[in-house]
Amino acid sequence: MIGTGYVGLVSGVCFADIGNQVVCVDKDKNKIDKLNSGISPIYEPGLDELIKKNFIAKRLSFTTNINGAISSSDIIFICVGTPTRKGSIKVDLSFVYKCTKEILKYSKRKKIIVTKSTVPVGTGDEIEKIVKRKKKLFTVISNPEFLREGEAIRDFRYPDRIVIGSNEKKPFNIMKKLYAPLINKGSKFFTTSRKGAELIKYASNAFLATKITFINELANLCEKSGVNIEDISLGMGSDNRIGGRFLRAGPAYGGSCFPKDTKGLVSAAEKYKINLSVVKSVIKSNQERVNLLTKRVHKILGSNLKNKKISFLGVTFKPNTDDMRDSSSLKMIPYLCKKGAKVRYYDPSGEKNEFKKIKNCNYRNNIKSNCNDTDLVVLLTEWDEFKSIDFKKIVKNNKFKVYDLRNLYSAEEMKKNKIKYYSVGRPNTN
Ligand SMILES: NC(=O)c1ccc[n+]([C@@H]2O[C@H](COP(=O)([O-])OP(=O)(O)OC[C@H]3O[C@@H](n4cnc5c(N)ncnc54)[C@H](O)[C@@H]3O)[C@@H](O)[C@H]2O)c1
Repeated sequence: MIGTGYVGLVSGVCFADIGNQVVCVDKDKNKIDKLNSGISPIYEPGLDELIKKNFIAKRLSFTTNINGAISSSDIIFICVGTPTRKGSIKVDLSFVYKCTKEILKYSKRKKIIVTKSTVPVGTGDEIEKIVKRKKKLFTVISNPEFLREGEAIRDFRYPDRIVIGSNEKKPFNIMKKLYAPLINKGSKFFTTSRKGAELIKYASNAFLATKITFINELANLCEKSGVNIEDISLGMGSDNRIGGRFLRAGPAYGGSCFPKDTKGLVSAAEKYKINLSVVKSVIKSNQERVNLLTKRVHKILGSNLKNKKISFLGVTFKPNTDDMRDSSSLKMIPYLCKKGAKVRYYDPSGEKNEFKKIKNCNYRNNIKSNCNDTDLVVLLTEWDEFKSIDFKKIVKNNKFKVYDLRNLYSAEEMKKNKIKYYSVGRPNTN
């Protein structure tokens, strides 16, 4: 596995756990040192135990020595990042191409190169061009990854589908054998062309982002028309053609995938002179949503936020991960601090480097000290430990308010407890 991040590490560990010999490589020495001393560099439930188990069983190793890892492997998974290029919507493929060149340099016998990184349609062709000097040694295929952070191990073990894209037949059998333990448990094994697999990944993420954005916009309408968005989600989602998942209104979508992959898809389509207007609207609407929900803090606390105490519960883009990439908190917290508010936050995954240099922003290491004398609690991430907080007991300020961006709490209960409560897409809550 080249690239030992969320995808490379989880996939590597899980491949080892089903009996394969796996080497995880990363250029980040700090990450590899941590792993070699038994510490996971990422927060992912269940991962630490699996790392230890497979490390002790000598099926799993971690190294910065890419030469050794490539020479000793038959199948090489590219799992490096594919971020958005600075100042553009294009995908930065430099990490993918750099490690492709390393594979070319260090390979002396036949290898299968598998792109697990999310890459624009046609990237496999580009990889093939890079390795064409030793063409006979390589088969380049695509195997996009669909795991979700926070549920990554379960998703790897029980995927809805395993997608393999190849322009030759032989690799399908090799990959089928590799994934046999999962296929035998009922996972669908789906084969297509290499470009087909690349595009399936982007299409899936863009569609899920569209679902979220759709329900988020409807939440705005619900607030104005006095309808509960949860009834809409349930009423719509019960239709099998629609499905209830990814239909919960909340903050703008974030994370390491949807924001960059929606942009990546639009930019890949532009290369083919295709206008993906739906996806473009989704991107715009999602960007506007962060501003809309941030501005609502003014509606709740007034236009002057100077010295107002605001307590965030959760800052990651979703629970059970420490990933901060494109989380709404990255825009909300700096804005509120700039307006003079005193922001503190607690997140079960720990303090965040992103906020260390922001004036007026402080980390608290538990719910109670985070909220004790606050003016406003902002529930941003629905970690389990936030689900049943007795705010009346922990907040020592009679006039505090709660702004629940995940509709985690009952509006009736809040009313009963005489707490000023604001949520998303529900009537009479703001
Ligand atoms: N995070 C997710 O939930 C998720 C889910 C599905 C797909 N993906 C896709 O998988 C890919 C990886 O995502 P991630 O979240 O794991 O990224 P990440 O940033 O967590 O990890 C990437 C790792 O690659 C390493 N790296 C970069 N270039 C290298 C090189 N030349 N040699 C060795 N190591 C190198 C980096 O140091 C880093 O540790 C992306 O394309 C992403 O879109 C991510």
